[in-house]
Amino acid sequence: MPLTQSLVCLILEPAVVPLDPLPVNPLTPDPLAPWRGPLARALHRNRSKPHSRYAQLATLSAHGRPANRTVVFRGFYHHSNTLMFVTDTRSAKVTDITQTPWGELCRYFTQTREQFRLSGAITLITADAADAALGQARRERWEALSEASRQSFHWPQPRHPRSEDPTAFEGSGPASAFPDPPPSFGLGLLQPDAVDHLELRGNPQNRTQYQRLTDGTWAMQAVNP
Ligand SMILES: Cc1cc2nc3c(=O)[nH]c(=O)nc-3n(C[C@H](O)[C@H](O)[C@H](O)COP(=O)(O)O)c2cc1C
Repeated sequence: MPLTQSLVCLILEPAVVPLDPLPVNPLTPDPLAPWRGPLARALHRNRSKPHSRYAQLATLSAHGRPANRTVVFRGFYHHSNTLMFVTDTRSAKVTDITQTPWGELCRYFTQTREQFRLSGAITLITADAADAALGQARRERWEALSEASRQSFHWPQPRHPRSEDPTAFEGSGPASAFPDPPPSFGLGLLQPDAVDHLELRGNPQNRTQYQRLTDGTWAMQAVNP
């Protein structure tokens, strides 16, 4: 992949956290980031492993305590470098993201033995999204879900004591019964500004760090593992 941006030869310090999350703007797609090639290769080479679709999402909960959990990677938002996941807006991670809109997705590909850590601002797209394109993206993700997944967004409140109502978790009909995303359905967009790629294969191992610069281009640097 040709790199239009200059490769900055410097030690990449951990990303300095800007005061505001980077805006997610569907109208000005990012140029393809240099880590997209290695990630696309990893996705392709690990495609026979269903778990290669999973990633661990870390957020910061109240009082600065970290929390992480598994989510399904739902592809990239249109022609951007922004990764998508879906979640229940009643979940703890949504409270975290609302308070501190930063997160890190960590993915390990077992076939090729490489790890990607993608860190950046998270934007949650909910039922009251003002931006039509973002609202449409949310709807498309809803329509792509299986019937079972759709039904789970109608389950009782997460984290409340287990419901004793045996019908509470039953579906109320086929997927066509849920044509519209309910308020509990949220689309998460993680817009990386720092990416760390570690390849265990090889001795010594290879590690590359990427950092998004303020002008939208990327610096990359091979570092000691
Ligand atoms: C394989 C796997 C895939 C999962 N995919 C998702 C997902 O895409 N979105 C999601 O919100 N939770 C997903 N979960 C459940 C989360 O890991 C987590 O238990 C749930 O979202 C509640 O997390 P929270 O209380 O930290 O918000 C998945 C769990 C597993 C084991």
